[in-house]
Amino acid sequence: MNTAPHERPLPPVLPGSVALVGAGPGDPELLTLKALRCIQAAEVLLYDHLVGPQVLALVPGTAERIDVGKSRARHTLPQEEICRLLCHYARAGKRVVRLKGGDPLMFGRGGEEMEALRAAGIPFVVAPGITAALGASAAFHLPLTHREYASRCVFLSGHKKARDATQDDGSEEDWDALARPGQTLVFYMGIARLEHIRAALIAHGMPKETPAALIYKATLPDGRLWRCTLDTLLECARAESISPPALVIIGQVLESVKK
Ligand SMILES: C[S@@+](CC[C@H](N)C(=O)[O-])C[C@H]1O[C@@H](n2cnc3c(N)ncnc32)[C@H](O)[C@@H]1O
Repeated sequence: MNTAPHERPLPPVLPGSVALVGAGPGDPELLTLKALRCIQAAEVLLYDHLVGPQVLALVPGTAERIDVGKSRARHTLPQEEICRLLCHYARAGKRVVRLKGGDPLMFGRGGEEMEALRAAGIPFVVAPGITAALGASAAFHLPLTHREYASRCVFLSGHKKARDATQDDGSEEDWDALARPGQTLVFYMGIARLEHIRAALIAHGMPKETPAALIYKATLPDGRLWRCTLDTLLECARAESISPPALVIIGQVLESVKK
């Protein structure tokens, strides 16, 4: 009997293959059904520090768990070693799940892992996750686009690859384009570079009073939002001792929330 696509069983991760799975921004209710099915089928799980205990509680007790870390300050395993482990366990015939915070392909090195799996001839599936920006948008009722304020939204990484971390000259972004009105900027991993972000945007013409927000642990019980302006971003982050994981949102669209 033919079934409609939405009625077909979701493909779980098969033996000898890898699932790159997005755990979402924190709240386990934001997992996709596909992500949940992959997690429940895991025999080996490699996970990042952003994956919270409530999501990890869904992993079968029999699964081998490997904490591969990944934060700016603490790289438990180098990326090459993570790729090697994914291939190693898949070649051993395991159902391997690579679980990452948010979406695996959004600032999550999922691209590098897919390249390694492709090169090794190992089949893989991707179960997308709700990225932090969308989790924050929903949790704090912040639209990222709005017909009156922003017709575009840009997701950016606030920090650069280690090889050019010594050059803080702003040349890595098109700040002229980013400083233009009519768009919302969402910086991931931007907390350590707030001073640079503020200076670059103001130098390229964005008004100092442009509304901004700092969002910590969106969708989690201790999630918080602080409102400020482009000019006061750094002072706000310092005064509130805001640490990662946090997003920086900048744009006139934040005005819509005050209405
Ligand atoms: C390595 S990136 C991973 C992003 C992830 N793949 C995603 O799609 O959300 C880590 C950064 O995502 C952001 N982030 C992740 N989860 C967050 C949350 N619940 N609240 C705020 N920011 C979050 C922070 O900027 C953090 O430093």
